[in-house]
Amino acid sequence: MENKGIVYYKKIDSTNTEICRLASKGAPHGTVVVAEEQTAGKGRRGRSWESPADGNIYMSILLRPKVEPEKAPMLTLVLAYSVAKVMQTWGIANVQIKWPNDLVLSGKKVCGILTEMHLDGRDVDYVVAGVGINVNTQHFPEELCGKATSLYLETGKTIDRRLLLEDILNVFALEYACFVETEDLSFLQEAYNEMLINAGAEVCVLEPDREYRAQAVGINRNGELIVRTAQGEEKAVYAGEVSVRGVYGYV
Ligand code: BTN
Repeated sequence: MENKGIVYYKKIDSTNTEICRLASKGAPHGTVVVAEEQTAGKGRRGRSWESPADGNIYMSILLRPKVEPEKAPMLTLVLAYSVAKVMQTWGIANVQIKWPNDLVLSGKKVCGILTEMHLDGRDVDYVVAGVGINVNTQHFPEELCGKATSLYLETGKTIDRRLLLEDILNVFALEYACFVETEDLSFLQEAYNEMLINAGAEVCVLEPDREYRAQAVGINRNGELIVRTAQGEEKAVYAGEVSVRGVYGYV
């Protein structure tokens, strides 16, 4: 993926929303928007993403992949994997992935990813891949304290966000190229599963119209989470519609 330049904002509603605005004006694949602060940061499942000007990364990338719409949710896993891989190279060895796309340190969320797909008829027009990383935050609001952490709190070091961001974009460009070539995740499946916090754990599968408990096994080459139900049946859970949570808490 060629980097088409990074657009920086001190304050914006949401970097994902800004990418949508730029995309509708014809911005090219690879456009990146970064903000110091978001006033309407978006999270998954219609939630908001707290985005104070507190030394964090709020970034979105515009992608125009030529893949079937059903395959686009895999990009979420590609980005999560890329960020986790970069954290490992920065010496943060204990990073784990909560399927499909949360990054976890010491049982707490350090990074969230929101990908949004826009269709042109039945084709993918563009995908917005947004990532929020708690980098240098030293304090969280009380309601997030037990659930969220930052790279600073885990390592005791202030991180250079510009370097981290560059590394993430470079690694993601390589992983993205593998994905568009193969149109599946076989190239990262094993490494992703090694970081998967859910592996072997009991999870609650949240489908749009029902929820059930099962044991998570790992992802398959399509990025679906294989779970084993109480009846011993193996099911593939699709990231586009479903998420999982731990039975006893966040992970
Ligand atoms: C989640 O719920 O875990 C996903 C959080 C995604 C947050 C990022 S911050 C940059 C980008 N812009 C947004 O409005 N959301 C994403």
